[in-house]
Amino acid sequence: MTHPSLCKNFSGLLHGGDYNPEQWTPEIWADDDVLMPEARFSAVTLGVFSWVSLEPEEGQYTFDWLDNRMDAQAKAGRIAILATPSAAMPAWMSKKYPEILRTWDDGVRHAHGRRVNYCWSSPVYKEKTATMARVLAERYKGHSALGMWHVSNELGGTCYCKLCQEAFREWLFDRYGSLHALNEAYWTAFWSHTFTDWEQLEIPNPIHGETSINGLTMDFRRFVSDQMVRFYRNEADQLRAVTPDIPITTNLMGTYPELDSRKIAPYLDVASWDSYPFFAGKPTELHSWRSASFCHDLTRGFKNKPFLLMECSPSSSNWYPVMGLKRPNMHILEGLQAIAHGADGVQYFQWRMGRGSSEQFHGAVVAHNQSADARVFKEVASLGNALQELESVAGTYTKSDVAIIYDWEQNWAIESVHAPRIDKRNYSLTVMDHYNVFWNAGISTDILGLSDDFSAYKLLVAPMAFMLDSATIDKLVAYVKNGGILVTSYWSGIVNESLLAYTGGGDPRWQDLLGLWNEEIDALYDDVKVDVLFNGRTFQARDLCELVVPKECEVLAEYGSEFYAGRPAVTRNLYGSGTAYYVASRNEEAFNREFLLGICMQHGIEPCVDGEWPEGVTVRQRGDYVFVLNCTPVEVEVRVTDSEFTSLVGPDFVGHVLKLPPFGTSVFQHAPSRVTVSI
Ligand code: GAL
Ligand code: ZN
Repeated sequence: MTHPSLCKNFSGLLHGGDYNPEQWTPEIWADDDVLMPEARFSAVTLGVFSWVSLEPEEGQYTFDWLDNRMDAQAKAGRIAILATPSAAMPAWMSKKYPEILRTWDDGVRHAHGRRVNYCWSSPVYKEKTATMARVLAERYKGHSALGMWHVSNELGGTCYCKLCQEAFREWLFDRYGSLHALNEAYWTAFWSHTFTDWEQLEIPNPIHGETSINGLTMDFRRFVSDQMVRFYRNEADQLRAVTPDIPITTNLMGTYPELDSRKIAPYLDVASWDSYPFFAGKPTELHSWRSASFCHDLTRGFKNKPFLLMECSPSSSNWYPVMGLKRPNMHILEGLQAIAHGADGVQYFQWRMGRGSSEQFHGAVVAHNQSADARVFKEVASLGNALQELESVAGTYTKSDVAIIYDWEQNWAIESVHAPRIDKRNYSLTVMDHYNVFWNAGISTDILGLSDDFSAYKLLVAPMAFMLDSATIDKLVAYVKNGGILVTSYWSGIVNESLLAYTGGGDPRWQDLLGLWNEEIDALYDDVKVDVLFNGRTFQARDLCELVVPKECEVLAEYGSEFYAGRPAVTRNLYGSGTAYYVASRNEEAFNREFLLGICMQHGIEPCVDGEWPEGVTVRQRGDYVFVLNCTPVEVEVRVTDSEFTSLVGPDFVGHVLKLPPFGTSVFQHAPSRVTVSI
């Protein structure tokens, strides 16, 4: 399947980054014009935090600098991704209209400063941001450099002000219509929390407010996410009205927990995200590479078409505790990994390292050394060359056989309730644990939400599907009935959309689907592990072990220790033309591998290339291309049963063996007759 180009006035794979000429002089702009072609830039993102340079006084616009830079891009054949500047308001504005400043959970309104510092509900900010979007669109409509709009920057955070409080009440009124319905949904007779007037409803607040109504906590998270979507749409509507032919995006943040990115997706033309995977550990750790690839798959799934890697660092980032440099090859690996997973471009934060303020030491293409001979600059240019080499991959989209559910609402629901291992809820980590099995095996996965259409996938993996509403239960039942293979786990199907528990061992349709009922769940202390006996081997469970009672299902594994030794740990239920598996405990990686790859083998789900893949080396097919990515700090040997591969980028096979250096990448145009392709 192919899709048209990501943006107007460009085809191929984009390569560029955030460009902040407002921080520099025209002499430096002239250097930029020389250096950008050397870095193989085909795009720049302009204007992200530039409000004060665009409107230094209320209603006084200064576009000269931006006109100059837009024209320079057009002249050089680069496209501009033009941002609205709403992620940081100018000081004159917050001084004049203090209501636009955000209030924190301690009830204190921010002083002016930092960024993403605005209230979501302020009518003044709504009006100001809409006006600015309209003015920008009017000025640059028809400009030949304008390729895409970038609304604001990294929507995020919560405001606790009176305006947001009022907006939340309205949101609740729209959802429930009556206090009776709200009280029922929230189980408020508990601790005498029944509401008798809408005015009594307050934003839940962990510092000095309500934390005990689970449904309210959940709804507030839904509301905050909806506020972000509304904020985005306010600007996007203006842009679309003036330039209907220019695609619009906003830079998302992978699994960033506060915004349900799937809710904003329908209003985006292109999904894009910012990837900084190395903050959670050393850049050399596999975890970083896995989580980046997971987020690529996640972002691709928002529109089911190619996405844009809007930001990554060409070198280190300045907000890690240890600002380690990217090791040689890592940069190209990071960029090509994004392409392999469906990106149609790689962009950076940022083009030129600023001399001052808090990001002065953040990696950039042009560092303080300002040299095109610098290591980082050269790696950026080589990635640019590789992207040109691979330009015909642009627009291609390869659907997977396997879908994994990652759902914001599940995460919020699990975090809203007081059970059963508060410090080890680990929804995201658990989904990632499942993802890793496929990642390592070279089996392509799509990441979906429960509201997505998963009917066409062979295998649906939905761990910890804690909160299931009635329609979703029906959808899962229909999926399996029609031949789908469902893998779900402990802590699934426990509550409805208001977080009210299902009684009687689970919704009857859920019990029928799984062929079991749910009795209770044990939480384990960190030093306790429980044996799980599966396929003649003993695996270990940690954190959570559910006790289920089989009705129709077969028992595939049993617990081997604790008072529940002998009770089912994994079950299988043949249902309609499909199969529903239930994994009752949180198991170690070795179990996940054995179990999930066993299911793949049984059902003809194969890696895209038949071969041997060392741990940390992953393979991915996109369109006609096969990417072999060595995410380890050591040289590896990759063996394939087929040797008819010709490398387009990176080292080649010698016979059946490919030697990849530490963090090396090779891209091949596959020989179709010999490669097993996942559809
Ligand atoms: C991103 C942000 C950029 C820059 C970057 C630094 O989150 O969008 O503006 O601050 O982080 O890593
Ligand atoms: Zn507010």
